[in-house]
Amino acid sequence: MEHSIALVTGATSGLGHAAARTLAGEGWREIIVTGRSLNRAQETAVQLAAEAKRQVFTPLELDLNTTASVQSALAELVKRGRPVDFLLLNAGLVPFKQRVMTAAGVEASQAPLIGHHQLTVGLLNANLLSPNARIVIAGAEPARGGVPFFKYTDLPEFAAKYHQGNRTAAVEALIRNGPNVKYAPNNAYTDAKLIIAWWTAALARRLPSRMAVYAVSPGAATATEVVRSASPALRYLFIPIVNLIPGMNQTPETAARRYLQASEFGTDVSGQFFASAQGKFTGPIEAQRHPHLHDRASQEAAWQAVVKVSGVNLSNPASSSVVS
Ligand SMILES: NC(=O)c1ccc[n+]([C@@H]2O[C@H](COP(=O)([O-])OP(=O)(O)OC[C@H]3O[C@@H](n4cnc5c(N)ncnc54)[C@H](OP(=O)(O)O)[C@@H]3O)[C@@H](O)[C@H]2O)c1
Repeated sequence: MEHSIALVTGATSGLGHAAARTLAGEGWREIIVTGRSLNRAQETAVQLAAEAKRQVFTPLELDLNTTASVQSALAELVKRGRPVDFLLLNAGLVPFKQRVMTAAGVEASQAPLIGHHQLTVGLLNANLLSPNARIVIAGAEPARGGVPFFKYTDLPEFAAKYHQGNRTAAVEALIRNGPNVKYAPNNAYTDAKLIIAWWTAALARRLPSRMAVYAVSPGAATATEVVRSASPALRYLFIPIVNLIPGMNQTPETAARRYLQASEFGTDVSGQFFASAQGKFTGPIEAQRHPHLHDRASQEAAWQAVVKVSGVNLSNPASSSVVS
């Protein structure tokens, strides 16, 4: 991949900020950095330029909770007309103790995927990703299961119980946190990251042959702001305990490097979810093999539900084998 133009969402803090700075260090010509307001994005661009000692950052306003904001960001990118080589969909959050919904009726930790889908599909439809572009979206280890206090919904079971087996309707219910979904912040986060892994696999089937997409868990980096909205139990009990265990935490820079590492992967592993080895939250990343992640019906259901909730779809999916 030519190191030309990268776009990093959620660059105002944490891993997005660290990734943008690292990309500058690796010689990328331009890094578009997004923040929810233009002011925040501009401040971030100035701060990054000072840290990286390179004037390569372009601020872009992008609030992923609002379709109008995504549309304005897309219009800005269309006006510039320069294709993006590396699209890093990093923004995300561990949600609030009390359930928060966006104006569009989407649960807060699910909302970044809806905005990221609108952005990605908008760029693809406008032919604004370069032919061998790489797309990386932030996942997290709980999506594979087995992380204490974080539980994903058994989609086939949930669909059978409440939606006559219709998995698309079931994923939509998870995205909207209802009906028949009991809100628990950690579980909402886990479902959000699982739907991201499925969406990634479905998108890979629709991309032009030289492009690739990967879901990548950055792993544990508790020095970021990621749990700022989370419950006191998670912030003041679970994370401090985890931090005491050697090898269970890493710097934001190390975590952000995983995104850059994945951006160099080939098309042969497009659509896969990369995360730490089983039982770990740091160290090398590997493709995850858990059967629920590879369930094609769930992957396609996730894609269809995201298309429905976001209101946008690809105008010209690459593979004719997918129903869109
Ligand atoms: N840190 C970890 O241990 C860890 C582990 C696994 C996965 N992750 C994932 O890594 C990603 C980055 O997390 P982080 O640790 O860097 O957290 P962070 O410090 O809180 O940064 C998150 C960034 O995302 C932005 N953001 C969140 N929701 C947004 C929305 N709806 N619209 C626009 N921007 C939004 C935030 O902007 P505002 O400041 O305006 O909210 C901020 O810039 C997340 O997807 C997270 O789930 C992190």
